[in-house]
Amino acid sequence: MNGPLSLDDLAREPEQFTCDLHTAGGSPFTARLLRSDDGDRLGLYFDNLGPSVRGMYGPHPLHAAHAALLCGSIDCDQLLPFVAIVNDPDDAESHAIAGYFLVQVGLRDGDRQRYIDHGHPLTEQECCTFAPCIADAWQSRGLGSALFAHLATSLRRLGRRQLVLWGGVRSDNPRAQHFYRKFGFRHVGDFGVKGLNNLDMVLDL
Ligand SMILES: CC(C)(COP(=O)(O)OP(=O)(O)OC[C@H]1O[C@@H](n2cnc3c(N)ncnc32)[C@H](O)[C@@H]1OP(=O)(O)O)[C@@H](O)C(=O)NCCC(=O)NCCS
Repeated sequence: MNGPLSLDDLAREPEQFTCDLHTAGGSPFTARLLRSDDGDRLGLYFDNLGPSVRGMYGPHPLHAAHAALLCGSIDCDQLLPFVAIVNDPDDAESHAIAGYFLVQVGLRDGDRQRYIDHGHPLTEQECCTFAPCIADAWQSRGLGSALFAHLATSLRRLGRRQLVLWGGVRSDNPRAQHFYRKFGFRHVGDFGVKGLNNLDMVLDL
């Protein structure tokens, strides 16, 4: 059941990455890949994110129109968006998204050269690129840690050996840096964007 998996296998059976989990504090949630019928719930999740998350999360706009675009173009060869689904205790059918961890298969053009410049070249076929985002009300409650452990196990099943940060992490984001270091990410270099220092980090999976 947990043997090696190809991207073709995953495209046929995306539920291979579905898992019922708990945070360390005991809150249940389901981790799975984003589906084409998630547009409304992902749109709601994006629209409700607060300004501090928007300032820290760089890969793409966080609004309902982009959620519809993502759900309308699901392609496991390119992007693996993991979501954490929680249920409101008063509404067992709510299935709200509380976390969204975006993985790109391979490296992004915008990141690749920086790792070469840091003296840390990466192998496209062995890498994935990662950007996490947890709903404001769920941050610092262990949801991200539980979702990340599942994501790392899932990427190992695909034979991926390294995970890098999508656009790095801002130096003024201590929580995210703590989160990455806790899981073994190593700081391999810095770069500046609009006067802000950012850290590039790599995890050997
Ligand atoms: C970073 C993020 C993904 C982590 O997910 P999460 O669910 O909040 O993480 P967890 O609760 O599992 O773990 C958070 C850890 O940070 C620690 N932490 C919280 N605030 C902190 C702070 N100000 N400084 C350092 N560590 C902090 C917590 O104690 C916890 O560590 P522990 O497990 O060793 O006790 C989430 O907070 C988030 O989406 N933040 C906003 C968007 C963002 O910054 N994305 C990353 C862009 S690079």
